[in-house]
Amino acid sequence: MIVILDFGSQYSELIARRIRETQVYSEVLSYRTTVEQLRQLNPKGIILSGGPSSVYDTGAPHCDQAIWNLGVPILGVCYGMQLMVQQLGGGVERSDLAEYGKASLLIDDPTDLLTNVEDGTTMWMSHGDSVTHFPDGFELLAHTANTPCAAIANHDSKLYGVQFHPEVVHSIGGLALIRNFVYHICHCEPTWTTDAFVEEAIREIRARVGDKRVLLALSGGVDSSTLAFLLYRAIGDQLTCMFIDQGFMRKLEPERLVKLFSEQFHIPVAYVNARERFLAQIQGVTDPEVKRKRIGHEFIRVFEEESRRLGPFDYLAQGTLYPDVIESADTNVDPQTGERVAVKIKSHHNVGGLPKDLQFKLIEPLRKLFKDEVRKVGRSIGLPEEIVLRQPFPGPGLAIRILGEVTDDRLDILRDADLIVRQEINRAGLYNELWQAFAVLLPIRSVGVMGDQRTYAYPIVLRFVSSEDGMTADWSRVSYDLLETISNRIVNEVRGINRVVYDITSKPPGTIEWE
Ligand code: XMP
Repeated sequence: MIVILDFGSQYSELIARRIRETQVYSEVLSYRTTVEQLRQLNPKGIILSGGPSSVYDTGAPHCDQAIWNLGVPILGVCYGMQLMVQQLGGGVERSDLAEYGKASLLIDDPTDLLTNVEDGTTMWMSHGDSVTHFPDGFELLAHTANTPCAAIANHDSKLYGVQFHPEVVHSIGGLALIRNFVYHICHCEPTWTTDAFVEEAIREIRARVGDKRVLLALSGGVDSSTLAFLLYRAIGDQLTCMFIDQGFMRKLEPERLVKLFSEQFHIPVAYVNARERFLAQIQGVTDPEVKRKRIGHEFIRVFEEESRRLGPFDYLAQGTLYPDVIESADTNVDPQTGERVAVKIKSHHNVGGLPKDLQFKLIEPLRKLFKDEVRKVGRSIGLPEEIVLRQPFPGPGLAIRILGEVTDDRLDILRDADLIVRQEINRAGLYNELWQAFAVLLPIRSVGVMGDQRTYAYPIVLRFVSSEDGMTADWSRVSYDLLETISNRIVNEVRGINRVVYDITSKPPGTIEWE
């Protein structure tokens, strides 16, 4: 394992993903992790991440000084390198020329860390401080036009530092450097594979669960579906999958999901039809936050009732992923036992508010995985591509894509428009390219003309975005022809719609969903 000590960089997670792409397991830990804890983890290498501070700021995060004598190879990235230099007696200063963006790496020593990294390759820089002189025992590996010390090494102690970010995609030679560190310097073996994960996860689930019963709230997304497959393979009928249909799914999806799981995969699903209850909860509600809260509360209520009816259960399976674990690392751990205690809030599946006698023990088999790793696992245990590559769908479903009051009628209108969007996006081969493509129904009406008739009806907004992680997004530049086809079909085929508009707002400032 490679441990990444996080000094507050936005790229720490990315470093972990890059390492895992070399099939070596890696974890992001707080920079406060003590040397004793590190010794127990027994990593084959340590990476010190970048961070927003300057090493000379008061209160700037530092490493335990004993880390340098741990005998484990260490690679400092950006702030991590500056810290290494400063703590080992070298010098770091604010440079006259801050360097942001692409830089050409000029290699002084093409061995060791920089083996097979091309001279002149592009690396991504983002720093205001620079190393002015390096500590005893270090040598220069590379420089750039503006940064005399771009990469350094103490070959004997296996301490390395790079001023640039090898982990970002713009750093062309970055992966070669990471592979050198992981394979040749730390001597890691490429054992972090999907098959190895599945085998280990199944073993762990069996050992933990024994002959007890597990409940899983299935949503049909890739995380809960992969979890269902994994658990079913591990414990068979001790698993109960519960699917709560709140009535805000896309056209024919609840039926399709239940059929797929029970008939094709032979994983029984307890289908709970709660459509009327949910709709009643948001009758007359137009405020988006109130809508979301009411749906969330109703979910808990239904979940509680149904799990009592189907139970008792000892464990609740959750599709928590590694990014959730990193984000909540400091707050969700019981300081006495070291166990995770709180349930991560995922608005629609938040079961944290359950009464005491329904407190389950949590089982989170995907908690070590990034989203792309979940997809690989899903695929390897037989999940069909249509689920593996499913676009994200919000918990409150179509209810937050109908602005204003949600009624049966308006749900039908949106479902029909949404189906046309999906059909045409699929036909154009764009489904996997776009992060999300969907329709939104507005509560206002506008004038149009159809045949010789004046119309006064609702508009549909098309929201198509590309994104890496949903945190930021750009509106998609799809062809006018595609927009025309979708617009024509919606206006002609969906009653109550006489106008289609295209949302050209990026996130920020817009959000992806409209509510
Ligand atoms: P926004 O609208 O905040 O959405 O830009 C970012 C991403 O999150 C999805 N989303 C949700 N997912 N429960 C979910 O599971 C929710 O309540 C929820 N709200 C938004 C949204 O579809 C997009 O992918």
